[in-house]
Amino acid sequence: MLRLSSVSKVYHVRPFSVLSSLKASTAPKGGNSHKGNGSHHVEVKCENMDEAQRAYLDRVIRVDQAGELGANYIYAGQIFILSEKHPNLKPILNHMWEQEIHHHNTFNTLQLKHRVRPSLITPFWKAGAFIMGSGTAFISPEAAMACTEAVETVIGGHYNEQLRCLNNQYDLKRTDGSEGQSDEVKSLMSVIKQFRDDELEHLDTAIAHDSRKAVPYILLTEGIKAVCRTAIWTAERY
Ligand SMILES: [Fe+2]
Ligand SMILES: [Fe+2]
Repeated sequence: MLRLSSVSKVYHVRPFSVLSSLKASTAPKGGNSHKGNGSHHVEVKCENMDEAQRAYLDRVIRVDQAGELGANYIYAGQIFILSEKHPNLKPILNHMWEQEIHHHNTFNTLQLKHRVRPSLITPFWKAGAFIMGSGTAFISPEAAMACTEAVETVIGGHYNEQLRCLNNQYDLKRTDGSEGQSDEVKSLMSVIKQFRDDELEHLDTAIAHDSRKAVPYILLTEGIKAVCRTAIWTAERY
C-alpha cells in the first residue's frame, strides 16, 4: 500500500505536473499580486500535493491508459475471430468494444493533458492483448467470455483500489486555508467510477453469455487473472 506523508509544505509545480492546469484555475484573476492598483493580493497557490501523491496520480493515469489500450485490443481480437462464425455475438462485443475505445480515448487525453509518460512496453500490451482476445475466442465463444469475466473482475477490483486511495489520501490543504480534494482529483475519480461500472457491466454480460461453461473454466480464468495482475504491476512502473 502506498504510504503518503502528511501535507505540510508548498512544492513547486513540475512542468508536467497534474497540478499545472489546477494552478491556472485557482490563481486569482489579474495575475501578479504586486502589479496594478497597489492593493496586495495573496495568490492562492495550488494544493500542496507531495511527491508521493503526484507520483501516484501519474501512475494511475499510466496504468489505466495501458489497461484500456489492452482492453481495446482484447475485444478487437475477439471480434476478429467471432464476428463471422457467431454473428449473434457481434452487437454485444461491439457494444463493449465501443465502451473500451471511449475509456482508452479518455485516458489518452488525460495522459497528454498531464504529460504522463506512457508505459514503455506499449507495443507488448497491444500484441499480448490481441493474442489473449483472439486466442480465447479461437477456443470457443464461452472461452472468450471467460476471458472477459476474468479481465473485468481484476480491472473492477483495480479501479476500486485506486478509488479508495484517491478518496483516503488526497485531502489537500490549500494556501487559502480551505481543505479537500482538488477538482482534478475529483474529476479523475468520477471518470474511474464510471469506467469501473462499465467494466462490471461487461463482467455481467460475459456471465450472461456462458463464460462459466468455458472449458477449462478455472484454468482459463485464474491464468488470465494472474496475467492481468502482473500486467497492472508492470504498467504502473514501466
Ligand atoms: Fe475499460
Ligand atoms: Fe471492459
